[in-house]
Order: sequence, then C-alpha cells, then structure tokens
Amino acid sequence: MTPQFRTVAVIGLGTMGAGIVEVFAKAGLQVYAVDGSDELAQRGRGFVTTSLGRAVSKGKLEQTAADEVLGRITFTSELTDLADADLVIEAVPEKLEIKQSIFSRLDEIVSADAVLASNTSSLSLTRIAAGTKHPRRVVGMHFFNPAPVLALVEVITTLLVSQEVVDGVRDLAIRLGKKPVVVGDRAGFVANALLITYLARAIRLYENGRVSREDLDNAGRIGIGLPMGPLTLSDLIGLDVVKEVCDVLYAATKRPSDAPPALLTNLVTAGRLGRKTGHGFYEYDKPGSGTVADRQQDSAGAAVGVVAVVGSGELADAFAQVLGGGGLDVRIVSDPGTDTSGLVEAGLVVLAGSENCCEDCNDGECLTDATGGNVGDDSAEQGCGCCGGAAPGVWFPKVVEALSADAIVLAADPASRWAAEDLDVDSDSASGGSEVAGEAPRVMPVRLHQSTRGGQVAELGRGLTTSATALAVARATLEAAGLTVVVAQDRPGLVVDALLFPHLNDAVAMLDSGYATAEDIDTAMSAGCGYPTGPFAMLDAIGADAVADSLLEQAGVDPAVAPNPLLLEHALAQRTFR
Ligand code: CAA
Repeated sequence: MTPQFRTVAVIGLGTMGAGIVEVFAKAGLQVYAVDGSDELAQRGRGFVTTSLGRAVSKGKLEQTAADEVLGRITFTSELTDLADADLVIEAVPEKLEIKQSIFSRLDEIVSADAVLASNTSSLSLTRIAAGTKHPRRVVGMHFFNPAPVLALVEVITTLLVSQEVVDGVRDLAIRLGKKPVVVGDRAGFVANALLITYLARAIRLYENGRVSREDLDNAGRIGIGLPMGPLTLSDLIGLDVVKEVCDVLYAATKRPSDAPPALLTNLVTAGRLGRKTGHGFYEYDKPGSGTVADRQQDSAGAAVGVVAVVGSGELADAFAQVLGGGGLDVRIVSDPGTDTSGLVEAGLVVLAGSENCCEDCNDGECLTDATGGNVGDDSAEQGCGCCGGAAPGVWFPKVVEALSADAIVLAADPASRWAAEDLDVDSDSASGGSEVAGEAPRVMPVRLHQSTRGGQVAELGRGLTTSATALAVARATLEAAGLTVVVAQDRPGLVVDALLFPHLNDAVAMLDSGYATAEDIDTAMSAGCGYPTGPFAMLDAIGADAVADSLLEQAGVDPAVAPNPLLLEHALAQRTFR
C-alpha cells in the first residue's frame, strides 16, 4: 500500500535540513526537527525563524501564517521523540557511519512501515539501505540548496526499495509543490553528476590562470545565463560538499575531469569552505552572508571615442547594433574594398567577416592569382567569387592602409583573425611600408554572445604577447557600450563555450548511458539548479553541430572534452534532442 505521510521528521538542522523542515511545515505537515543537542536544535529554530521572517518582511507571507508554520514544528534533540513519524529524512554530514548509525537507531524507534529517507548528495544509497533492518523502506530524497526555493527532489531508488515507497515519496514531493525526478543509485545522481563536474572544470580554468575569478563568474551568469557564476555557486554549496561529490564521482568514473582540483582541496584543507565560514573563493563580510567583501575590479583603461565595424552580414550588424545602441560613436565600413573613410578616426576596429565564402573560395583566396595579387589588381584572375570580394582576406590590405597607427583591432570571426594575423607579426609589411606606431601587438579575438537574462557578454582573447594597454582600452570601450567583458586566455572556446559545451556534452553522455531521459535531465537542471532551460533545450537552441564543432576544436587542447558519439550523430543527422 502506498504510504500516507502526516508526520515527518528531519534529522540534522544545517542549511539543508532547516530548509527541508520549512518546506514540510509550509505544506501543512507536522514536523519533528532534530539535531544532536538542544543548542543545535535551537540554532535550527533560528535558521527557520529567520527564513520565515524574511518572507514576512518581503510581504510574501502573513505573520500569522508564519506563526502557524512555526507552530507545526517541534524542535528536539531526542531521536526517541520520533516514534509516531511516518517519514524520517536525515540531512546529517556526509559520513556513512553516522547515517548508518542513525538509521539503525531509527529501526528501533519508528514503526515498521515508516519510511526512512536520506538527503545524501554523494553517498551510495544502496550502502546506506543495506545496513538497515528493512532496506525496502529506505529511499533517497535529495533536495537542492536553497530548499525552500528550488523545486527539484531527486527520488533515489535502490534494488532493495519497494515500489510503494518510491511512489509514496514521489507523490509527497508533488504535494510539497516540488518536481520529483526518479532515478537509480549512481554516483552524483543526475544533477550533482552534471553540476559538480561543471564546477570542477570551472575551478580548473580559474586555477590555471585562464580567466580571473570575476570574469569566470560573469561568463557563467551572464554569458550562459545561469543564476550564479560557478565560483559563487561553489561557495554557496560549500566547498567541502563540492569536494566530497568530486571524490565520489572520481572514485566511480576515474575521469580526471571529476577529480577535485588542487585549489579546491587546498581551500577545504585551509578551512575556507565558502559562505558558511565567510571565506571560500571569495571573502564575505561575515560567515553565512552572500555579500562579497573582496570583489576585484580589473584595471580600467580609457574607452576610445570612435569605433569602426568592418564587414557586412549578421555578425557585423550585431556589433554595429550593440555598440551603437550602447551610445558609442560607430562608423560602419560595410564595403572596405571601395570606402574605408570610416576607419580614419577609429581608435578601435571590429573586423567581422562575411559568412558567404564557400570552401573553394577559402576566404577570398580564389580571388588572388599565383603571385598573391588581389582582385582589383591588374594581374589577378577572378576565381569562384562566392564572397564577391567581401572576405577579409580580400579587403584586409585596404583596411590596413586606412587604419590609424595605434588603432586596436578586434577580430570577430576566424577569417578576420587569419587576415589580421600579419598586423602583429610583421607590422611593417602589413602597413604597406609605413611603420605601425603604438604598442603592438594590438589584434585580439572578440566573441559577442547572445543576450541572456543577466545581460550580454563580449569575450576578448588574451595571447602570450597581447598588450595589456590595448586589452584595457578594448575592455573599457566594450564596457562603455554596456557589455560585460570577459577576458580569457586565447584558447578554443575562450571561457563561455569552454564552460558550457563540455557540460552539455556530459548531459549527452548521461543520456547515452541510459541513466536518465533528456526530459528528466532538463527538469533536474532547471528545477534543481535554476537553469533558464535544461541542457538539452540549450543544445537544441544552439545546434548540435555548432556544439560538436567547438568541442572538436577544444579537444585539441583537452582531449577529455571530445564530443560524445550521440552528439556527433545528432549533429550529422541534424536532429534535435527534445
Ligand atoms: N532560503 C529561502 N529563500 C531564499 C533563500 C534561502 N536560503 N535564498 C534566496 N531565497 C529567495 C529570496 O528570498 C527570493 O525570494 P522572492 O523572489 O520571493 O523575493 C528568491 O529566493 C530569489 O533570491 P534573490 O533575489 O536574493 O537572489 P537570486 O535571484 O540570485 O536567487 C538563488 C538566489 C535562488 C540562490 C539563485 O541564485 C539560484 O537558484 N542559484 C542556483 C543555486 C543552485 O544551483 N543550487 C543547487 C546547488 S547543488 C545542491 O544543492 C545539491 C547538492 O547536493 C550539493
């Protein structure tokens, strides 16, 4: 028979336990809230009272309703008080011995048909269940932080649990207003297996100096559109918890990408556990607070007065619109073959090539003769001409002629980048004989991302020899147009795609392994981690081919991110996942 739940108990009143107590009591259930001592039980009461008080002060809850919620909760330090509980959830520290000992004691206290649930985020539920008297009543009920806000409950099954218990817990989650996803017992379940691997990869990007702390978080929050950047989120979850899940994932998969990064391990060893200790990747104004006390501002340069956007097509239009819309004085140079006057005053030039070129054209090479003479030269022979002379390889020499000597050049597409390469390598010949003044090198890749709910990111690639001054000026100019600038080491995927695409690939690998459906994975990540849409909805919006192409490029630097075969199949067949 499917169990009915009227009285529940939560053991362990830390952040998660107190949040779970609040969820149950708000849904009208009688709740025992238990911790190891009266002091800890009172601390738990404080967490719940503060959270309810915040809802009251925001006008989300009447004071009388908050009092009623609190009235349904009995705070205690005695497990023996739980004799009439229909469901007990433990949310104690992630130590198997502690959980097993609590469940063994509960076996002697609660009735034989009461359900025992664990909120474990990393331990094997099967091992917890196997140590109890009645493993058929032991199930996972995994909430997400903050539990009162996030809708996901992962209901974890084992080979030993009864179907009635699973159904009952799933129905209860729905009654609580949550979204349950029922899955088997694997390391990290759905959400943590994907999220924590993503966080570990992000921490490694920071640890390796590929991007600053603030820029990395902006890449996640604004570039991808997630609710928080990866370092801020790690600090919220608790670095000890992130490391524990990494350890469990790594033990199960042996993939280096799952291993805890050295920096994470060192922070945990040093007792810097994130918000709860007031210090993690960031320093906070006090323990428990989310207010960062040591946010760093990148050294500001001065924005240039005039910006030119060179090229025609969607990319050039997007830059012109964003920079002009942001209030910059933008000169559009759509046909540099005939008119480069817009370049004369420009302190910063965005090269955005044509997307017309076919493979034969090879960025205008078809328009050059054997001696390298360009179309328009008397000696040049007309080739296939698909780009109509609009490819950067064709017009770049004319741009160089007109370019002001110290203008900074941002290359927005691979063809522009290829064309502009010589400017830094051999300024003399690129400028047609006249010396390029200013601080070379001054060419860098730029990537404009779609707007998200957080804003819009432009990424700048920083190479070995990139001038710090040019970088600061480019950053200041793009920021003056209202963009959030992320500066990343110049590697395939820069940072936003290096964060997002391997994460989407991991979701495809999980689907490919048969563990969860695309729908369940999407629900888990949007309801459990506040994603605007799940990974498969994101993948379908971006296109499997674009993600696979970028991953193939990124795999040149890190073979671990090579696209999953199922992703490649979708890319080749032009199939969506949802
Ligand atoms: N308790 C109760 N309510 C809270 C809260 C808390 N601890 N923190 C925030 N809220 C509420 C706020 O009161 C606010 O409510 P209203 O909209 O009703 O005013 C709402 O949440 C939004 O909060 P804020 O405006 O302060 O800030 P925000 O919009 O940035 O949202 C956030 C905060 C909900 C934490 C959001 O940033 C988010 O969803 N972040 C992602 C968190 C995440 O990924 N969690 C999963 C971690 S993994 C895990 O938990 C599993 C594990 O095993 C490790």
